[in-house]
Amino acid sequence: MAETQRHPFLHGLSKHRGAPPTVVVIFGASGDLTARKLIPAIYNLSHDNLLPADFFLVGYGRKPMSDDEFRTLAREAVGEFSRRELNPGVWERVARHTSYVAGGYDEAPAFERLARHIDAIEAGLGRDVQRLFYISTPPSVFAPIIENLGASGLAAKHLGLPHHSKVVIEKPFGRDLDSARRLNDTIRGVFQEEQVFRIDHYLGKETVQDLLVQRFANSIFEPLWNRNFIASVQITVAEEQGVGSRGGYYEQSGALRDMIQNHTMQLVALTAMEPPVSLEAEAIRDEKVKLLRAIQPLTIGPHGDVARAQYGPGLTGGKPVPGYLEEEGIDAQSATETYVALRLSINNWRWQGVPFYVRSGKRLARRVSEIAINFRRPPGTLFAQGGRFDLAANTLSFQIQPDEGLSLILNTKIPGLETRTQPVKMSFRYATTFGSNTPEAYERLVLDAMVGDGTLFIRGDEAETSWKLCTPVLDYWRSVGREGMESYPAGSWGPAGAEALLSAGGQVWRQP
Ligand code: BG6
Repeated sequence: MAETQRHPFLHGLSKHRGAPPTVVVIFGASGDLTARKLIPAIYNLSHDNLLPADFFLVGYGRKPMSDDEFRTLAREAVGEFSRRELNPGVWERVARHTSYVAGGYDEAPAFERLARHIDAIEAGLGRDVQRLFYISTPPSVFAPIIENLGASGLAAKHLGLPHHSKVVIEKPFGRDLDSARRLNDTIRGVFQEEQVFRIDHYLGKETVQDLLVQRFANSIFEPLWNRNFIASVQITVAEEQGVGSRGGYYEQSGALRDMIQNHTMQLVALTAMEPPVSLEAEAIRDEKVKLLRAIQPLTIGPHGDVARAQYGPGLTGGKPVPGYLEEEGIDAQSATETYVALRLSINNWRWQGVPFYVRSGKRLARRVSEIAINFRRPPGTLFAQGGRFDLAANTLSFQIQPDEGLSLILNTKIPGLETRTQPVKMSFRYATTFGSNTPEAYERLVLDAMVGDGTLFIRGDEAETSWKLCTPVLDYWRSVGREGMESYPAGSWGPAGAEALLSAGGQVWRQP
């Protein structure tokens, strides 16, 4: 074991991960997310002995299926998508407590059946079981599922006790402010906020959690973490993939809804929030909401704070790929954006005057997510060369994926008889220090929900605050159709409008 892992301070930080006996019910049991993420997460938790000894998995879906058929489906999902190879012994531990209930999402009698199914598990065990409902369905059936969980009494089970029922909700959490509010109202009509776990899988990523540790477990950052030392912040969430076969979904979504409102705004909040008073869920979420509220409304339209674009044909990995408008399931006149860049102003004591630039897009030059903190340039008088002062700004960058790590750009003397400087990069890579078998985001999130720890989940007011910022942009785009929509070649770093957002402040996007 590495020396760092034995350090007593790190032991002190680790939370008790014991979950009570639990039944996880997955709505949307035969769906893509269940196969790709949820079942492999459960398998890997079992592999690491992190599931409670009495753990039960119930698939629920419209498709009629026997218990055995669902087990086979789940086993295949582990074989195909788990980060570890399937170990038959480990799988058997999960499989023997796996079953399936077929039913519609708006069928009250089917929920009664589900309730009886779980009561039978509880009776067989002779003790209470926690019910964790994981809603992994299209958003059109979120409301009927939640209402039926209420009407059947499943939502209120063991209320007032730590193992009360819990509900995990996948994105999209609404498609604008109004729909997010309506969804929150539906949820609040049935569940108390502490029972609700809204997923943003970016919060389950190791490096995103490390951002909090870096900021608050190192004394060198906090004194510099403000407008006096930081010139700007750039957040990039770039994907190399196009929309692939998800065109139908993506046409209704677009980059602002799909990536910015949720994942990217979470990165902004964690980077810029004030130190929380504790690591408790509410303390952290209070600070995130305060920060999101301090972001000024965006100026929209020509020369505003927003750039949007669609990818055109180009090259990915050296191979020609079609543009967005030529993709399967996409309207040739589509006004759905595959790229968004924003210039955010945070109007609080810490950040006033420091622009936060964020961008996210599909079919960009490579898959990379990073947060780059650009410090102010040092006074150049000592090292001006030929009358020119060109010391690089120090940049601290958190590489979220791939090749997770942290790097710092420092100016250094080039060895030799003259005093000449060159920026160099000091790097730390997770894989080198800790090995590369990092748990997937969903493993952490499924376990946290079972344990009842909401720190890495989105609170209702947080989702609404983020929609409040994004909704005027969506409304404006709806009113202008394709007007102002730029294009960028697949495989590039995005459109000219995104460069213009920065050049107004004398800056350029960093090449991650
Ligand atoms: C999802 C989006 O939330 O995140 C997808 O719906 C996107 O469009 C994905 O591809 C990116 O996640 P990751 O973990 O691969 O960066």
